[in-house]
Amino acid sequence: MSGAPHVRAATGDDVAAIAALEDENLGADAWSEGLVREGVTGGLPTVRYLVAEQAGVVVGHAAASIVADIAELQRIAVTPACRRTGLARALLTEVVRLATAEGADRLLLEVREDNAGARGFYAAAGFDEIARRRRYYRDGATAVVLGLPLGPTDGSAV
Ligand SMILES: CC(C)(COP(=O)(O)OP(=O)(O)OC[C@H]1O[C@@H](n2cnc3c(N)ncnc32)[C@H](O)[C@@H]1OP(=O)(O)O)[C@@H](O)C(=O)NCCC(=O)NCCS
Repeated sequence: MSGAPHVRAATGDDVAAIAALEDENLGADAWSEGLVREGVTGGLPTVRYLVAEQAGVVVGHAAASIVADIAELQRIAVTPACRRTGLARALLTEVVRLATAEGADRLLLEVREDNAGARGFYAAAGFDEIARRRRYYRDGATAVVLGLPLGPTDGSAV
């Protein structure tokens, strides 16, 4: 695919595309279309849904919650055909920018211990391991808790 990635806030028109990305990329952990719709259109002030477009098509998404000093990255995924082109990095950069602007000083997330691709992505973005949660996922897999300190200069460093 060609064209510069474009990251923007999701709207109600993106719900089906985001739900499809959930199904495609997050397997048993995928959120249903109803849950995605609630997140995108529910008006919760702490929730941010972003999409990444390539050539006008939604090919990635991210969801974060920002509450006081802590931001949590709940979701990030890019369709397989568009990976390793910097789309997740662009989504994460926007999450960091929003979280920093709202006063958060850390971005936290959980990732499956066996998700080598995502762990490689987070390591490249500067996340450090904070803790492990055994049997965190439905299938018994361990979650690795990662954190990224946020500051005025961090948004451009991702
Ligand atoms: C993890 C994921 C979001 C990365 O998306 P992406 O758009 O391919 O990532 P980017 O192109 O922005 O990668 C930026 C950098 O992260 C690192 N990286 C990305 N994917 C990686 C992988 N599979 N293995 C190792 N490092 C990786 C690289 O340093 C990469 O830079 P490079 O391509 O110049 O080497 C994508 O693989 C995905 O959707 N996975 C399935 C869903 C998922 O597991 N989400 C996370 C749940 S916690």
